[in-house]
Amino acid sequence: MNSSAPTLWGGRFAEEASPLLRRFNDSIPFDQRLWLEDIEGSQAYARALARAGLLTPEERDALVAGLDQVAEEWRSGRFALAPGDEDIHTAVERRLAELIGPVAGKLHTGRSRNDQVATDLRCWLRRRVDELDAALAGLIAAAVDRAEAELDVLMPGYTHLQPAQPVRWSHWLLSHAWAWQRDRERLADLRRRLNRCPLGAGALAGNPFPVDRQALAADLGFDGPIPNSIDAVRDRDFVVEFLSWAALLGVHLSQWAEDLILWSAREVGFVRVADRFSTGSSLMPQKRNPDSLELLRGKAGRLVGNLVSLLTALKGLPAAYNKDLQEDKEPLFDSVDTLQAALPVATGVLATLAIRPERMAAALADELLATDLADYLVRRGVPFRQSHELVGRAVKRSEALGVSLAGLPLAELQAISPLFGPDVAEVFDFQRSVEQRAVFGGTARAAVQAQIALLRRAARGKPDSEWGSE
Ligand code: ARG
Repeated sequence: MNSSAPTLWGGRFAEEASPLLRRFNDSIPFDQRLWLEDIEGSQAYARALARAGLLTPEERDALVAGLDQVAEEWRSGRFALAPGDEDIHTAVERRLAELIGPVAGKLHTGRSRNDQVATDLRCWLRRRVDELDAALAGLIAAAVDRAEAELDVLMPGYTHLQPAQPVRWSHWLLSHAWAWQRDRERLADLRRRLNRCPLGAGALAGNPFPVDRQALAADLGFDGPIPNSIDAVRDRDFVVEFLSWAALLGVHLSQWAEDLILWSAREVGFVRVADRFSTGSSLMPQKRNPDSLELLRGKAGRLVGNLVSLLTALKGLPAAYNKDLQEDKEPLFDSVDTLQAALPVATGVLATLAIRPERMAAALADELLATDLADYLVRRGVPFRQSHELVGRAVKRSEALGVSLAGLPLAELQAISPLFGPDVAEVFDFQRSVEQRAVFGGTARAAVQAQIALLRRAARGKPDSEWGSE
């Protein structure tokens, strides 16, 4: 690091910045990934300056063409960083001046890195949001396709990790897909607030030249300019919202992964993660570990951490721009990178997972039908509280006799309640049990099919207000 390299702001200083400070202060090692957005923002700004009469059409064209050249250098990997390149904004402007001469010095008229960096970051994140939305849509599609293909597979449903009631495997799968669908909706929602333009706010007080901020915002594809210049340069809510979104998606992915990790355990064996998404042990030759799922579960930690890290940096910041805001980037980049790697892995694991319907069926114990037995009495007029108590006694009795609930002789049941008749045998049927849950959102075949149709509609962007009306 050469401490005597020029800076953009050196004029008023008697002493050069310490190399220690330079290393500490420079964001170029991580913000260079904003090069495209920085250049596009500068091109739009050059057009805005020309519209305001501050650049001639020739000067504007020289700036735009020069910036295209800088972009080409970045794209081809030929851009060479110089010692004074503090951040991406400095680096691009320095190179532009080398390429086109002093007219480059007109580009920053009325602009500050404060409105510039906020603009770059919004434009960059907007692209990543669209990519992540597509990746998440792919994961949901994989889940919905499987749910449809494997509609007739039944498995134990759990609460407290204890066997509870039989459900369709598809029903479980869709339960996660709905959470991911809400994640897509939240992403679309935060994108609206993200898509507002800070450029033209200047350092904090507004641009002193008559730049048309509406036209500038439109040029960059924003829905409009941010109405308050102080807010424009300080606001990082869009990063917080994104990190919060990423953290919640991370939590959803970890919950999904945990179910599958558990079910891939040898003792359970409901699913088998494909070889290509499993790894082995360096010591134990027999091992096949679901590392893909474990990492998906583990990544939630850093996603939550990135959110907390930024919130903590923002807390108590005075108006308007403070260098603390530079700390927004690494957590943001890390969460984006994490999810861009995680979502295709999740989709791959899900698409290649083998299920073992016979193991699921074998795990369907009679006790999962205890509620159905209580419902049998309800249909004969017994208040549910009482039928719950009576069936509880039947469970106790079956345990005492060492038989399953279905194996309890009718006489034993009738000793508990005379309302039990020979037709009670029909209760002990898992198909019948799931088919009784035909209510909207239930696990009956038709109800799950309806869910699949709804989820496909929702994935195409239909508003929730239309749900349940068909
Ligand atoms: N590298 C800075 C950041 O990421 C750019 C803005 C610098 N502005 C300033 N006034 N020092 O936030």
